[in-house]
Amino acid sequence: LSDGPLKGRHILVTSGPTHEPIDPVRYIANRSSGAQGTAIAGALRDLGATVTFVTGPATVAPPAGVRVVKVETAREMLDAVQTALPVEAAIFAAAVADWRVANAAERKMKKDGTGAPPALEFAENPDILATVSKMGEGRPGLVVGFAAETHDVARFAADKRARKGCDWIVANDVSPATGIMGGTENAVTIIDETGAESWDRMGKQEVARRLAARIAESLGAAGA
Ligand code: C5P
Repeated sequence: LSDGPLKGRHILVTSGPTHEPIDPVRYIANRSSGAQGTAIAGALRDLGATVTFVTGPATVAPPAGVRVVKVETAREMLDAVQTALPVEAAIFAAAVADWRVANAAERKMKKDGTGAPPALEFAENPDILATVSKMGEGRPGLVVGFAAETHDVARFAADKRARKGCDWIVANDVSPATGIMGGTENAVTIIDETGAESWDRMGKQEVARRLAARIAESLGAAGA
């Protein structure tokens, strides 16, 4: 398979949640299994790409045959992404925590006996997708972001594409009635410079295969 249409192409995929420590034993995080990002990395590998897979603490195992870089926090994820550059395409499937705890404790926090809970202060994390999208020199030729929305999916995703400066947004409807969050299926809308394209509901593996094929086509890969 290493002689597939993406042979010799280097592609970065971020996946999973980030964990932001409160103290050495506690953290805040987003809910993310890493399933969609893992499937995308595997599908790109199957087309012959050299894949760097930067993953937070996900529940699914990383795919075989890719370069795995494990991180905990958003800031570590940004460092790992910048270290992996240059790449020809970057796919940001991670569910990055928007905030970290600014006053994280070095030692385990203890109940002080008064019943008063600790006050957490938050600081904004770097936006990895926007940072890479807005790079001048060295920007990947194709930058893909994700958007999880519960309503007005195409409209919010188009706004997000403009705000972040990425080339495509892969939007999914995560309203509770869909059962998509944590499930095996996904229903996505791809927003690019030409508009929105909605795909039928299908397995996350199939979404990954189609997305990888679309990426190969966009990169002008031989035989794609
Ligand atoms: O703004 P929102 O978090 O909904 O955007 C989601 C997209 O942005 C995803 O592609 C996600 O991987 C990326 N993102 C990021 N760094 C952040 C927040 C989101 O790369 N700090």
